[in-house]
Amino acid sequence: MLRFPGQGHRNPDDVVIGPLDLAARVDEALAVQALAFGLGAEEIAVRRQIVLRHLTYPGARALGATTPDGRLVGFVYGMPNDRTHWWSTVVEPYLRGQGYDDWLDNAFVITELHVHPRYQNRGIGRRLITGITDSAAEPRSILSAIDTDSPARGLYHSLGYEDLARQVLFPSAPKPYAVMGAPLPLRRR
Ligand SMILES: CC(C)(COP(=O)(O)OP(=O)(O)OC[C@H]1O[C@@H](n2cnc3c(N)ncnc32)[C@H](O)[C@@H]1OP(=O)(O)O)[C@@H](O)C(=O)NCCC(=O)NCCS
Repeated sequence: MLRFPGQGHRNPDDVVIGPLDLAARVDEALAVQALAFGLGAEEIAVRRQIVLRHLTYPGARALGATTPDGRLVGFVYGMPNDRTHWWSTVVEPYLRGQGYDDWLDNAFVITELHVHPRYQNRGIGRRLITGITDSAAEPRSILSAIDTDSPARGLYHSLGYEDLARQVLFPSAPKPYAVMGAPLPLRRR
């Protein structure tokens, strides 16, 4: 059978989900994020510094989705929330306004989740986020996603995440975000 580039491993079972040394593979991860989320070179350079700083925070960890030939095609990372972290300080007034700011305590934050476009819709994103949250000691998880009806929002809703605040504005981000929270372990289908 003829195989074209990228069509060699169509079976999702071929993609292995496991611990990822994100600091060592940050450039591969950001290449996936650039394709999935649409980042330019300048934004990637900024994200690179941010990711490497995040990985120094207590409890920060990552999972990767890797093909049999070792290519990274998806990743997730996060950490226990800390109210002094930048993300938390931005979302705090919005959550407080809704009476939900206690979600910032004892919560595992999903900081990034991205799957290479060619590998999307095969359950990889679901496996990554359930995998990383299953190992969390915290009883709940929070995250932010662009406030629109996207596949990401559809996935998060199906896992039990509910909107805690809408139209959240991050400095320098052009689009508003929704902050979502879910009890752990995440809901199974
Ligand atoms: C969000 C993302 C990581 C999901 O990864 P994935 O591997 O494609 O997701 P899965 O195949 O595990 O799950 C698909 C689920 O997403 C949801 N979904 C997929 N396409 C959808 C669509 N067009 N509309 C609504 N929901 C959709 C469904 O809930 C689906 O669940 P199902 O399996 O019951 O149908 C991936 O789409 C991605 O990288 N998107 C671009 C980057 C991004 O937005 N990242 C999140 C930043 S907050």
